[in-house]
Amino acid sequence: MKIAIIFGTRPEAIKMAPIIKECEKRNLNFITIVTAQHRELLDQKLEVFNIEPHYDLDIMQANQDLFYVTSSVINEIKPILIKEKPDIVLVQGDTTTTFATSLAAFYLRIPVGHVEAGLRTWNKYNPFPEEINRQLTTRLTDYNFAPTEWAKQNLIKEGIDPDKIFVTGNTVIDALLMIVDPNYTFTDDKLNRIDFLNKKIILLTSHRRENFGEPMRNIFLACKYIVETNPDVELIYPVHPNPNVQKTANEILKGFDRIHLIEPLDYRPFVQLMNKCYLIMTDSGGIQEEAPSLGKPVLVLRKTTERPEAIEAGTARLVGTDKDFIIDNAQKLLTDKFEYKNMSSKANPYGDGKAAKRIIDIILHHLK
Ligand code: UD1
Ligand code: UDP
Repeated sequence: MKIAIIFGTRPEAIKMAPIIKECEKRNLNFITIVTAQHRELLDQKLEVFNIEPHYDLDIMQANQDLFYVTSSVINEIKPILIKEKPDIVLVQGDTTTTFATSLAAFYLRIPVGHVEAGLRTWNKYNPFPEEINRQLTTRLTDYNFAPTEWAKQNLIKEGIDPDKIFVTGNTVIDALLMIVDPNYTFTDDKLNRIDFLNKKIILLTSHRRENFGEPMRNIFLACKYIVETNPDVELIYPVHPNPNVQKTANEILKGFDRIHLIEPLDYRPFVQLMNKCYLIMTDSGGIQEEAPSLGKPVLVLRKTTERPEAIEAGTARLVGTDKDFIIDNAQKLLTDKFEYKNMSSKANPYGDGKAAKRIIDIILHHLK
């Protein structure tokens, strides 16, 4: 039996890495294909996890649009799937690589396994285009690996056969546990010089397409205000390479002593930064899942979330993109010790670090 593991962006690489490691450990017949929808961000993660892909489609272009990514993935993956004839194609999450690969596999009648299946906002344009990528991938999927019971119930509501849904936990926790090391020292001296003990360090990430323009400006203006009005606060923002993000971040946040705009980090230093910071403000999906394992409160800079478990568990709060609302919520966590403690001492609802093992067990059981 041959498994094809296919991914293209930073979060997919992190979340597929534990599955690749599990296949290596068990000496299974598998191939890895990267679309390289991301280039540097993907390569960083391949290096951390020591993954050498069998095929690299190398599709990324500067400021690429969705038409380009979708059509390139479908057209370029076709000959590889025809040649390799895998028994199952594994995709992860909600990117355009995920959807386009599932569609290509379907056209070739190859079964699809979807890792992190069943996340939903039911809002067509939020997150854009991820919500529709997920819904369409579900229609094309044969084996749904849902990270939580909530995700499983979403799939059942959409008429998916319960026998094809498996609750496994999220592989991001497996990856995090592989990498986290409290004794890790940054290789970048700029980060070593930051006073994590006496200052309150806010870690910011923001890159979502639906936040481009006014919402992202509001997020950055709120962050600037928070830093300016709290002398004990510093902000670190590894800026996503998307030109739309870079432009707005530089316009609003560049040139302040206590605001550090840095390059996107490798996974090891990024996890350490999450571990050492005081508070995380983010529109990222994966970071919402990782933060509870490190005991860090998260303010989610989005109008909707497909990850309500962290909000219900009390580790994350959905604050949207309204400047004043973001400021009020951050201010509360910076000044109210009880509020802070309450949000930082909860169990992680997303998994126990054994998701990859479960996924491979299920594939072997069902495909044999
Ligand atoms: C993509 C995913 C999004 C995911 C995010 C993770 C889609 C439509 N979007 O968004 O779901 O949350 O990745 O980060 O699938 N760029 C580089 N180097 C890189 C990566 C990106 O320069 O390594 C720049 C390029 O100019 C590229 C642009 O960013 O054209 C956008 O990349 P793209 O993958 O289309 O969108 P993301 O915003 O990264
Ligand atoms: N991440 C990283 N370096 C960074 C920023 C993020 O390694 O500078 C990791 C983070 O820990 C998480 C993943 O990238 O596992 C999230 O990716 P992103 O926010 O780009 O995508 P999303 O999860 O929103 O799809």
